[in-house]
Parts: sequence; C-alpha cells; structure tokens
Amino acid sequence: MSKVTVKTIQKIKDSGEKFSVLTAYDYSTAKYLDEAGIDVILIGDSLAMVALGYETTHSVGVDEMKIFTRAVAKGVKNAMVITDMPFLSYHTDISSAVKNCGEMIKCGANGVKIEGYSEYILSVVKRLVETGIPVMGHLGFTPQFLNTLGGYKIQGKTKEAAKEILKQAKELEKAGAFSIVLEMVPQDAAKYITENLTIPTISCGAGKFCTAQVLVSDDVFGKYSDFTPKFARKYGDMKEFIINCAKEFDSDVKSGKFPNDKEIF
Ligand code: KIV
Repeated sequence: MSKVTVKTIQKIKDSGEKFSVLTAYDYSTAKYLDEAGIDVILIGDSLAMVALGYETTHSVGVDEMKIFTRAVAKGVKNAMVITDMPFLSYHTDISSAVKNCGEMIKCGANGVKIEGYSEYILSVVKRLVETGIPVMGHLGFTPQFLNTLGGYKIQGKTKEAAKEILKQAKELEKAGAFSIVLEMVPQDAAKYITENLTIPTISCGAGKFCTAQVLVSDDVFGKYSDFTPKFARKYGDMKEFIINCAKEFDSDVKSGKFPNDKEIF
C-alpha cells in the first residue's frame, strides 16, 4: 500500500468507493491502525475527553495537540495523518491560524481539520491551502460550538437546514477544503450533501451515503466508557480486557507468581 494523499482520497470519491477514518492519539495505536489499512488517522480533539479526561474539547491546546501529533505521525507509514485544530487555535487571526496549523505539519501531520463555517473560516481555509496545508472541514454538529449550539444536537433536520449545510460545504470546497466531516446530520441530508459535492464527505453519525466513516477509536475498541454516542459501533471490549489483565497481574504479584524464573536476570 502507498501513502494516502489528498489525491487518493479524491480518487476514492470519484470512483464511488469508500474510505475509513479512525482517531488515534499515541504511537502504537496509530501503528496498528495503519497496519490494519485505515486510510486516514485523525488526531481528534476528542482526545481532550477520551485521553485527558476533560469535560469538553475546549480545554485542549496547541501544545498538547503537537505532542499527540508527533506520537501518531511516528507510528504511521501509509495512512494520511490529520490533526484536529483545537479551540481558539485558528479563530483570532489568519496569521496565527497559519502558524498553529503549520506547527502540526512540522510535527508530521499531512493536513488539518477545522470546524465550522463563516466568511472568516473561508479565508483561513484559502490561506492554509495557499500555504500548502490540506484542510478537512467539519460541518453539522461542531463540538467547539457546543455552547452556542446549546448542546449535542442533530443538525440539518429540515430541508432548509440541509440546504444551508450544503451551501456551506460548497463554499468550503471552493475555498480549497479536500473533504468535509458531517457530524450528527440525518442520513438523507448527508446523502443530498454528498451527492452535490465534488469532494468527499466523512460521516460522523451522518449515515451510510457519505464517502467515508469516522469514529473515535476508543469507542470502537470499547475503551472509553463515560459516554458512547448512538452512532458509534463497539468492536471490542478493551475496558474489560485492561481490567482483567490488571487484576491477573495484581493477583500474580501478590501470590508470588510474577516474576517467574524466565522473567529475571
Ligand atoms: O475530535 C474528533 O475525534 C473528531 C471526529 C470524531 C470527527 O472531530
């Protein structure tokens, strides 16, 4: 398999095929996802909750995202590595947006994801692409706007709302975005948006008609248990696995079974 790039992603959309996106926050998880053939690995700001235990994504910053980006990029050979730009890292002015996004590229990312839509966001996307930084957009429910959206709410429920998301997506596409995450959008609306865009859409709880599907890997592995969204599918039970391994180790230490003769110098 060769390195996944913006060109690969567009070819997949053009041929009517699908691609997979999972989050990773550390070196070995990223390495295994890459080995498994995942096409895009996202250092999501969801790490604020699932890796750092914060309440929302707002608390994570550029310096933390740089550390996680470096770790993930080191583990990946083929997948495209995208860093989710944290809250306030691209909102104040274009030059700090370019600087902060550029830092992630220096840490090994192949592109960045930024949330939302406005005239300002469009100019940020344009400038980033001119700088050589591929941009993944993110529309529908955008967690960094949690407080203004008034909670975890499905977006694009009416015809008008779906049309508005399509309008925003088209403008992001025109500004140079190479793909767009649609989060918590009804399946029919996401289908309509996907069919009317040239670039791929990535479903995060937006149904099966998008070009790609993204999930938080801790939900997929059954590792994070504080909250699981309705659209996430659990493929394993890492929480139970970790607890069982830790219990056995604890018991082996206390009973004197660990270490054995092969585990000593
Ligand atoms: O932060 C994240 O992990 C995300 C994806 C789930 C799209 O934004």
